[in-house]
Amino acid sequence: MTRGLGTPGGFPDVRPRRLRQSAAVRSLARETDLLPRHLVLPAFVREGITDPTPIGSMPGVQQHTLDSLRRAAVEAAEAGVSGVMLFGVPAVRDAVGSGADDPAGILNVATAAVAAEVGDALVVQTDLCLDEFTDHGHCGVLAPSTGSGTDPVIDNDATLERYVAMALAQARAGSRLLGLSGMMDGQVAAVRHALDAEGFADVLLLGYAAKYASAFYGPFREAVDSQLQGDRRTYQLDPGNRREGVREAQLDEAEGADVVMVKPAMAFLDVLREVRDAVRVPVWAYQVSGEYAMVEAAAQNGWLDRERTIRESLLSIRRAGADAVLTYWATEAARWIARG
Ligand code: PBG
Repeated sequence: MTRGLGTPGGFPDVRPRRLRQSAAVRSLARETDLLPRHLVLPAFVREGITDPTPIGSMPGVQQHTLDSLRRAAVEAAEAGVSGVMLFGVPAVRDAVGSGADDPAGILNVATAAVAAEVGDALVVQTDLCLDEFTDHGHCGVLAPSTGSGTDPVIDNDATLERYVAMALAQARAGSRLLGLSGMMDGQVAAVRHALDAEGFADVLLLGYAAKYASAFYGPFREAVDSQLQGDRRTYQLDPGNRREGVREAQLDEAEGADVVMVKPAMAFLDVLREVRDAVRVPVWAYQVSGEYAMVEAAAQNGWLDRERTIRESLLSIRRAGADAVLTYWATEAARWIARG
């Protein structure tokens, strides 16, 4: 015989735990799915190395050679991952990031190589930003006035011209989706216009709309051998601002972004939810290098169950509203999901 909970005031006998009583019922009640197709793998390719180089602050992640990058892309596709987002690490840098739009530049060469290798099995994507290619490490071209204070002055509109050149080079190399991560005003509209004029109407644009000036990018700086001194607070968002993140996402949507991004992910899940509710295009989130490093470090110490923590972190990002997630664990997580 079951004891009733009591029904004061005539309320029905409410038992939410009924939905948790067995694996089958939990499966029926589950609200959020995490599938391999929701994952995109960010990958680094470095010019002039003969063997993959480990990144100390991101255990398990490497700077790839062209060959190891091709293999990583094939493995991701076999695991069911949807895309790969490529970042280039050039051997030589200059003030305007000339390597970025050079067809022989590492990122463009790698894009063509991966596109030839995987065909349509993965959506081949490229980071469209100057920071890996400039000798000062900023995402744009510096205005002449820079040098007086600590804050750099970025020439927004001169940078847009560089982004347009980079976009065309990436599209010609075979990138299917350009990740506009530089946070310059008007970048989506400028690049869309140029692509359409050159016959690349099918190339997708991902606007890194709500990209915050975050400490969680720390390990990435090692990953791309960043030359940056200081920070990016004059162009990336203030971590205290949620409304501004939503506004940026709406502007990117209006400029023609096919997808918008919130980044980092876990420290900005509230922004992610609000952006998901405010726009009609897909919303992606980037689980960044620092999020990766924290979990790996704790797991190495035996302080966290690595697989459970990673799966929960990805699920939480999906639950907050991400249609897809960029994560350095993409291939491994996709294999876990397939296994069950
Ligand atoms: C800039 C860029 C950054 C990241 C991706 N694109 C660094 C930054 O803005 O400082 C960070 C990604 C990560 O931390 O994993 N092109």
